[in-house]
Amino acid sequence: MKEFKILAVVVILSLITYWGVEPFAHSQMHKHVEGHNFVYDGKADITDAAKEKVAVKKAFWGEVNQIAKLPGNVAAGEASFAVCMGCHNGSGVNMGGVVPPSLDHAGSLYDKTYLIALIKDPAIASNVDHKYAVTMMHPMGAVQTMVTTPQQIADIVAFIKAKKVGNIEPKQAFLEACGRCHANRYGGLTQIGETPKFKTEKEELAYKVKVLDEQDLVKAYMGKLPPDLSIMSRARSEQYMETFVENPQSQLPGTSMPRVGLTKESFEKVKAYLDETGDPSKAARNAIGPWVILFFVIFTVLAYLWKKHQWKDLH
Ligand code: HEC
Ligand code: HEC
Repeated sequence: MKEFKILAVVVILSLITYWGVEPFAHSQMHKHVEGHNFVYDGKADITDAAKEKVAVKKAFWGEVNQIAKLPGNVAAGEASFAVCMGCHNGSGVNMGGVVPPSLDHAGSLYDKTYLIALIKDPAIASNVDHKYAVTMMHPMGAVQTMVTTPQQIADIVAFIKAKKVGNIEPKQAFLEACGRCHANRYGGLTQIGETPKFKTEKEELAYKVKVLDEQDLVKAYMGKLPPDLSIMSRARSEQYMETFVENPQSQLPGTSMPRVGLTKESFEKVKAYLDETGDPSKAARNAIGPWVILFFVIFTVLAYLWKKHQWKDLH
């Protein structure tokens, strides 16, 4: 019985150290950030805005939330969507810093209100307006001169939400939402997409030069090369990743990474891909966990019985 008491004391002390000290140290190093469950209605932006920006953000999100109530016309939206395809055409050409992402699954990836905000003003929507004196200077900013009425915005978003949808694989979600800025070396991805197989060394070197050229452009646009995300899911907690992607400014004030406007479901897809490249054996390890614990339980019982047996004549 004495041994059990000692064990109990050790277990309790370990738990106190773990739960008391680790989270405490963590809370001192990182402030806790509340998420807003991938709802993009501007409330958090208005609360966090610098004093001189509050009025602009209030007016902007007020209009966006009004447009969100307009019924959109899918057919009219399809016609206007041609404007978007001028840049989002899959040609792989860098535009003002990045290659505009494919919009093939934009209806599944992005939140509806966020899309409305993005077409209205990409810089304010993605919460990087602090980088621009005039938000038209954002690489997608010219859209403000091409799509000008609330109804037109509502139509385009209705079209995207009706037709640019489909079951999207985790890797594809990463490529469309993050891949223009972030490489994922373990997944074989760079800022210009999936790295092909090469027949000759010359071909491979030429491709590497293309990747480096693209990285120079992204670096010039962002101020630094965005980090490779291969093992990011190991370096950052789940809560951090979620609130960071939802609004990068909440964790790194002043950062140049834009908010991407993902829905909760599409964030889960991106996260699944990052978990896969960061820790490919996690699923197998989790599956074996309960068996290891069962082994220890059986082992403890046997060890106890054996010990009792050995000592029975000595007491
Ligand atoms: C002048 C070129 C241009 C036009 C026109 C344009 N875009 Fe973009 N778009 C871009 C660029 C460049 C980016 C990448 C911006 C970045 O990563 O900072 C982008 C990003 C996006 C994204 C990713 C969203 C995000 O937050 O990361 C979506 C969705 C999008 N555009 C939708 C549209 C739609 C819908 C239209 C038409 C109404 C459109 N774009 C018109 C250039 C353009
Ligand atoms: C338009 C470019 C761009 C896009 C798109 C983008 N990021 Fe980033 N990201 C950056 C930049 C730049 C940084 C570096 C931020 C800094 O240090 O200020 C960064 C940093 C990060 C970090 C590290 C944060 C930290 O604490 O150091 C994570 C995690 C991240 N991005 C995740 C994502 C995910 C997930 C996506 C897609 C859903 C994404 N990013 C899309 C530009 C981008």
